[in-house]
Amino acid sequence: MNATHQLRCTNCGVRIAGEAARSDFRCPECNGLYEVIYPWSEGAGPWNAGIPPNSSTSSSVTPSLEVRLPNPGGMRHLWQERKTSTMAVDQSGVWRFRELLPIVRDMESVVTLREGNTPLYEMPRCAQLVGVDWLLAKHQGMNPSGSFKDTGMTAALSVAVERGFQWVACASTGNTSAAMAAYAARAGLRCIVFIPDGKIAWGKLSQAMDYGALTVQLKTDFDGCLKLLTKLVQQFPIYLLNSVNPYRLEGQKTPAMELVEQMEWQVPEHLVVPGGNLGNSSALGKGFLEMKHLGLIQRVPKISVIQAEGANPLYRWFTDENREMKPVTAETRATAIRIGNPASWKKASRVIEETGGWCEEVSEQEIALAKAEIGAEGVGCEPASAVTLAGLKKLVAAGRVANEERVVLVLTGHTLKDPQYTIDYHRGELLTAAEVAGATVSEQARHAALRKPPMVLEADEAIVLKALETHMATANAEDTQTTHGSPA
Ligand code: F0G
Repeated sequence: MNATHQLRCTNCGVRIAGEAARSDFRCPECNGLYEVIYPWSEGAGPWNAGIPPNSSTSSSVTPSLEVRLPNPGGMRHLWQERKTSTMAVDQSGVWRFRELLPIVRDMESVVTLREGNTPLYEMPRCAQLVGVDWLLAKHQGMNPSGSFKDTGMTAALSVAVERGFQWVACASTGNTSAAMAAYAARAGLRCIVFIPDGKIAWGKLSQAMDYGALTVQLKTDFDGCLKLLTKLVQQFPIYLLNSVNPYRLEGQKTPAMELVEQMEWQVPEHLVVPGGNLGNSSALGKGFLEMKHLGLIQRVPKISVIQAEGANPLYRWFTDENREMKPVTAETRATAIRIGNPASWKKASRVIEETGGWCEEVSEQEIALAKAEIGAEGVGCEPASAVTLAGLKKLVAAGRVANEERVVLVLTGHTLKDPQYTIDYHRGELLTAAEVAGATVSEQARHAALRKPPMVLEADEAIVLKALETHMATANAEDTQTTHGSPA
């Protein structure tokens, strides 16, 4: 048994050995969620406290090895050096940081598609729009299956392999299932996906099928899917790979390391993350707080979470003076975050509070505009990721982000995940008349400028030349106007 880590209930603090978790990853004492802790984790205390010394789950504890705290300078050097290695685990942008996630005993168990290693883009035009000097986007949609879920899936699925599971399963709004199906296929495991019927983007559904998952479409929403699946895993030997599985979050914390490494170990002032089931914001927060605790960085960024107005339970909690969590019936075109009863809300709310971040909600119209703006910067993302830019506009307007602060948007999914949304937007078929009417005059003007519906023409030389001549003349006139009309 691997005693390099334990699971601690984030609610009541009870600690158990990794293998002792129930199949639904809930604490039997209080129903809370676990987090993975290591001997060097904050508040870890005496390592075997609470774990029976002779239990089968703690038999090979070797304290001298476990209490050794990794050295920050040495780790930075090692992580950098691994970039030139030809070994798969070194090429992975998750396992390259393996000192901070010793969750598998044997690296042979690791299932990797060389996830992570995602670009950090400068976003000068979006920065100007929002009114900040310096805006970056960490594009997690550039992972192998096109979303940030790969970083968590490599971690948790490797644990499933090590523990001998043959079957894995998840409930999903699409990206988790795509990632799980890909990693399960690599490992030769069988997998089952529960998705809300008709409510996931085609790109994601097609991936689950392509990678050979058994896909079960249920006439319910994500929350209903997760509830049913939780029952299923209690009856069959199936390993649950939703983000209630704390090993998922260990992988999902590594973009925090990669990000500061890309910034030469400087820390941005603010990180803006979309919120659905709230695992990702929790994971990134854990990553930053652990790095600070280990002396790898001196401070943490403020982490703000943005939700869609129609799927905003955390925002409601955040603005409710009684601080009561009330699940909602979720509705948003950003289907990835169409979640009304987020499992990790307590973890995420702690991250917001500990880092001094904020929670915002954004409308469908604001999401569509932000997505088009990110697209026009040549970067692109899926609708759920665009809530970050839409939310940042609000944070700046409310004075919660100062213009000289360095801000990083976490773009969680690739633009090709949901092409229908993009096509509908550009054809003017996405937003309702009421939504458009609700936009400000300047927002309406930006929509009009950004929309690029295809030109449908006869294949006739004269017609095509004429149309392009007109189009180019208009565009050139607009450019001249912008250059001369914009403030210096
Ligand atoms: N962005 C994208 C593209 C997502 O797919 C998700 C979640 C989120 C943001 C929100 O992250 O849940 O950690 O707060 N997608 C899950 C899924 C629920 O099933 O693919 P979160």
